[in-house]
Amino acid sequence: MPQKIRKAVFPVAGLGTRFLPATKANPKEMLPVVDKPLIQYAAEEAVSAGIKELVFVTGRNKRSIPDHFDKAYELEHELAERGKDKLLNMVRNIIPSDVLCVYIRQAEALGLGHAVLCAREVVGDEPFAVILADDLIAPRNGLSGLGEMVEVFNYHGCSVLGSERVPHDETHRYGVVSAVESGERLWHVNGIVEKPAPEEAPSNIAVVGRYILTPRIFELLEHTPRGAGGEIQLTDAIAELLQNERVLAYEFEGKRYDCGDKLGYLRATVEYGLRHPELREDFAEYLRGLDVDALIG
Ligand code: UTP
Repeated sequence: MPQKIRKAVFPVAGLGTRFLPATKANPKEMLPVVDKPLIQYAAEEAVSAGIKELVFVTGRNKRSIPDHFDKAYELEHELAERGKDKLLNMVRNIIPSDVLCVYIRQAEALGLGHAVLCAREVVGDEPFAVILADDLIAPRNGLSGLGEMVEVFNYHGCSVLGSERVPHDETHRYGVVSAVESGERLWHVNGIVEKPAPEEAPSNIAVVGRYILTPRIFELLEHTPRGAGGEIQLTDAIAELLQNERVLAYEFEGKRYDCGDKLGYLRATVEYGLRHPELREDFAEYLRGLDVDALIG
């Protein structure tokens, strides 16, 4: 059995330009889907996959993320005074007490690869997960997206990239792999490129916001030059990693919503609303009664 995955890195230092002005003073990872911010869905996914240490790489305007996971004395006091026990329990138990939160500052948004490198000292010499909270993954059959990948890692003991087949005309938005099928939903990766144009993409298997990586990635990131968009790309370091180590791509079963994008975010909001135990009936009725054509004019 390989070393256990105990730590997850959450890069939350991006500029979130696609969501301006909502992200002017607030990180996009704090955008709520129904009643929970994206970062909390991501933290819950990690915890359910057995992670014990959450490492947040934050940037400017990111104070609300530590605030969200910290104890909220005044709020707890108010809720206790008003006898709102259910809500009190909810805010007290955002994160289980045996899970540690660590915050690291990425002084400048130099890219996802650089953000991951910032976590090196805290992660140390062990395999770890990376979660991009703006990719929201609905659990399937009781297992979260990262939970599925941890099972793959526990069996194969190598880096695993969360992946999904995307329409050919969307490859320019993702890291895309060239790979050989090596099992159910599993691919042996032999190449990876960041944001290829459709005619240059080696396949339509795209890497989405979940990674399990061996610590070797840190050594490679130290020397990774700026790549696509002038940023230090995690994809470029992975391209080197797979020259030396086995890297697998795993197509998870859970449904992914790209919440860094407005349309993806709206889809998630509608579908999570329809699954919400307190809202589903009323929301479904509301949607059924909508005169969409009249609204779009
Ligand atoms: P994105 O490519 O989605 O960029 O980053 P972004 O800046 O967040 O959003 P847009 O495209 O401008 O709207 C992918 C992930 O990497 C993190 C982001 O927070 C996001 O989770 N990131 C990116 C960093 O932490 N630091 C960086 O320097 C860049």
